[in-house]
Amino acid sequence: MNQRAGLIRVTKSRHPKYPVDSILVMNVGWRTGGKSDGSDVWYVRTDIPKNVPMSAGVGIFAMTGLTAYYGVNYVLKLKAGDTLLVSGAAGAVGTVVGQVAKTMGCRVIGSCGSEEKIKFVKSVGYDDAFNYKTESVSEALKKLAPNGVNLYFDNVGGSFSSAVIENMNKGGRIACCGAVSSYNSKVPAQAPVVQGTMALRSMSMQGFNIFDDIPAHADEIYVAMKKLAAEGKVKQYEYVTDGFETLPSTFIGMLQGKNFGKAVVKI
Ligand SMILES: NC(=O)c1ccc[n+]([C@@H]2O[C@H](COP(=O)([O-])OP(=O)(O)OC[C@H]3O[C@@H](n4cnc5c(N)ncnc54)[C@H](OP(=O)(O)O)[C@@H]3O)[C@@H](O)[C@H]2O)c1
Repeated sequence: MNQRAGLIRVTKSRHPKYPVDSILVMNVGWRTGGKSDGSDVWYVRTDIPKNVPMSAGVGIFAMTGLTAYYGVNYVLKLKAGDTLLVSGAAGAVGTVVGQVAKTMGCRVIGSCGSEEKIKFVKSVGYDDAFNYKTESVSEALKKLAPNGVNLYFDNVGGSFSSAVIENMNKGGRIACCGAVSSYNSKVPAQAPVVQGTMALRSMSMQGFNIFDDIPAHADEIYVAMKKLAAEGKVKQYEYVTDGFETLPSTFIGMLQGKNFGKAVVKI
C-alpha cells in the first residue's frame, strides 16, 4: 500500500464542494502544499467532535479507524463473550481495534514489541498483553486466555500469525488486515504452513482492505466512530513529530516500532 493520507486545509478554492477552510483527508503523498481538482479527496472531516484532536482526521476518523472498525464489526463480527487477540496492538490500527472491541463486552488481548508497550496497551483498554519478542504465543495464551482465543485481528502476518493460528480454538476466525512483519523483508518471507490446522479446526480467514471493501460502509462507520469518540469510548492515541523533514524518519521509525498509537507528522 503506497497511500499517504494527509489532513489538508483548503486555502484557495474554486471547487463547489470544497470551499476555503474545508478540512479534507486526501491521498496527497508527502508535501507542504499543492493544487487539486478534488478527485483525490478521500473524506471531508469538518465535524470532528470537540473533545477529539483534529489529527483524528487522519487517525480514528480516517483509514486507521475505518479499518479497525470494519475488521472488528464486519469481518470478525465480534460479539459479547468472544476472546480476541490483536497483533500490532500498540500501533495505529491496533489501539483502535482494542478500544472498539472493549465497548462490546469481550476479552481483548494484545501482542506488541516491548514491556513499555504492554503498559501502554493496557492503559488504552486492553485486558492484557504480551511481548512477542520475549514470550512464545503458546505460553502467553495459556496464561492470558485459559479458555482459548476464538478471534484474531492480524496486523503482522508471518511466523507469529502461524503460531497464533496453531493455538486458536475450533471454529476460530481471522481478520487479515496486514503483514507488517514482512514489509521490510529482503527475501520472500516464509512462515509455517497453517492450512492443515485450519481445515481440522474448521477455521476461516478473511482479508479486507480500505480501497475495495470499506468505501461502501465508510459513512456509517464514520457516524459510529464519531459517537464512540464523543462519548469518550474511543480516543485518538498518537505519536506526533513536528516538521516536514521528520517524515522519512517517522515512517521508518513506525516500521521499527517506535510509535505508540498513530504516527502523525505535523507540518
Ligand atoms: N487492510 C487495510 O486496508 C489496512 C489499512 C491500514 C493499515 N493496514 C495494515 O494494518 C497494519 C498496522 O498498520 P498501522 O498503520 O496501524 O501501523 P502501526 O501498527 O502503527 O505500526 C507498525 C507496528 O508494527 C509493529 N511491527 C513492526 N515489525 C514487526 C514484526 N516483525 N512483527 C510484529 N510487529 C511488528 C511495530 O510495533 P511493535 O513495537 O509492537 O513491534 C510497529 O509499531 C499494517 O499491516 C498495515 O499494512 C491495513
